[in-house]
Amino acid sequence: MGTEQSIERMTAAQITAKKADGAKIVCLTAYDYPSALVCDEAGVDLVLVGDSLGNVIHGEPTTLRVTMDDMLYHTRIVDRALKRAMLVGDMPFLSFSLGEIEAVRNAGEFVACGAQGVKIEWQPGIERVVGAISDAGIPVMGHLGLTPQAIHRIGGYRVQGRDAAQAELMLREAEKIERAGAFAIVLELVPTELARRITGAVKIPTIGIGAGPYTDGQILVFHDMLHMLPGKKLKHVKRYLDGFEAMARAVGEYSDEVRGGKFPGEEHGFS
Ligand code: KIV
Repeated sequence: MGTEQSIERMTAAQITAKKADGAKIVCLTAYDYPSALVCDEAGVDLVLVGDSLGNVIHGEPTTLRVTMDDMLYHTRIVDRALKRAMLVGDMPFLSFSLGEIEAVRNAGEFVACGAQGVKIEWQPGIERVVGAISDAGIPVMGHLGLTPQAIHRIGGYRVQGRDAAQAELMLREAEKIERAGAFAIVLELVPTELARRITGAVKIPTIGIGAGPYTDGQILVFHDMLHMLPGKKLKHVKRYLDGFEAMARAVGEYSDEVRGGKFPGEEHGFS
């Protein structure tokens, strides 16, 4: 990535400032060159190379087997495509849990691959990690609510913060993450009213996924919103395309035409 390219991209400061301007922040995940080109072309503000690639690219049931090497490989590819959107890399399972020094070193690896910031999922004491990475000059996005890397502790992919004590804890943790220097916080599968309270309580933007309409921005997984994979529809996802159906139809048509001698035609050949 050249320096000029990074300057043209949205910065963490610009993302944060959108909250004060009352402008909604549009975020989406991307993992490869074509999906990142689409996001950039469509004017997405922030592209996250999410560890959800474990699910939607690798076909794994959880994100727990995603490694730093996987994340850096995909971050480097997405970096090649983005001209305008801010690029954030998602720190995978255990890459920030063994202490601040290792967390900063791993966050630095994302930056070396073109990321302008990193996202880290909540765990007890996360504010120290947020502070260390931010102090090193790397913008950090917090992540509260459903944190899929803690799936074995949580026990299922379900809404978080439904009871009053859990809601209060989440609010306090959001404030700690803000004080530690984060530029934004993802709220995943959080009741609408709690997401609204957290959004009102912090000055940095909240980015919702399954957190209702009152957060400062929204993020979805690229493959979910375009329905690129078969399977049950998730309640919080709106499908903007029936991608799997459309692609399967096109590949079926190609197969029929090859078998029926219709493709390639004369026009696809060379003299
Ligand atoms: O990994 C991911 O894609 C995420 C988003 C759902 C926020 O963490």
